Amino acid sequence: MRRRVLFALLTLGLLLSAACTADPAGEPASEDLIVIGMCQVGAESDWRVANSESMKAVFTEANGYRLLFDDARQKQENQITAIRKFIQQQVDYIVLMPIREGGWDSVLQEAREAGIPVILVDRRVDVEDEALYTAHVGSDFLEEGRRAVAWMEGTFQGAEDPVRIIHIQGTPGSTAQLGRTAALEEAVAAHENWELLVRLDGDFTQAKTYEVMTDYLSSLPGPGDIDVVYCENDNIAFGALQALEEQGYPCGRDGVNIITFDATRGALAECLNGRISLAVECNPLLGPLAEEVIRTLEAGGSPEKHRYVEEQIFTAEDLTEALLESREY
Ligand code: AHR
Repeated sequence: MRRRVLFALLTLGLLLSAACTADPAGEPASEDLIVIGMCQVGAESDWRVANSESMKAVFTEANGYRLLFDDARQKQENQITAIRKFIQQQVDYIVLMPIREGGWDSVLQEAREAGIPVILVDRRVDVEDEALYTAHVGSDFLEEGRRAVAWMEGTFQGAEDPVRIIHIQGTPGSTAQLGRTAALEEAVAAHENWELLVRLDGDFTQAKTYEVMTDYLSSLPGPGDIDVVYCENDNIAFGALQALEEQGYPCGRDGVNIITFDATRGALAECLNGRISLAVECNPLLGPLAEEVIRTLEAGGSPEKHRYVEEQIFTAEDLTEALLESREY
């Protein structure tokens, strides 16, 4: 409670100076609100936008929170700066979506010394001391990758010809990239006829993927024999589709099989119309789970260290227009 009072005092000056322009119906910060400092990666993907919306929908004043939301524009140094600022402001909790796994020990130690619990959302951190964060809620990215690989095994079962794969990765060192890549690597090692043609860095964005994929396809001496493009998220899949089709590669059942992760509405629509062969769900609606952790802590309880969301896979056969419309993201 003391931290909340201090935070209210620190922000009082700002509130007073803003008073002449404030909404007359607006309430001043209440010292009873739980103050959350949130470090989001950025807005690189449709998934990320849905994730930010899920957090903002839960951490509202009506629900008893003051949310300080920082968009790090996909830079770890910005996330570290934001955490230090939240420590100075003496927030009650820090919620961190870490861009990559490494490089967090010092700043999380600073948060611990300040007595501020850190809750990880979405991805994980690789730290020497697991006690540097209180809990994590997110996806099991290795399991997602294994689901994609199981679909490939079913689709290419009995194939004697090589299965030629292009792999387009997400942000290097992020848990999503590491897990999805590890699953594909395991499978390529286990199947003699699976051939990895190239590995490209798409950084989870459509623009970068379109660029690197166009360069790669243009560098081939003739039309490539490509069976699968393993795209580590939907925006990578959109960029790859665009590049492939522009260069005359049909995508879908009788062409290149695009595999994607996230299964946001745009990707499911492409799956329903047959251009994407498989969409592996990565659920961005993590706000309610993060709030459960904070409620548990506020009640003096101990949340689970890791909690994974439920996810599924989709092919065209699993989809209908009605299902797409009912999706929240
Ligand atoms: O960490 C989750 C991943 O990050 C999602 O697959 C991707 O779209 C996002 O940018």
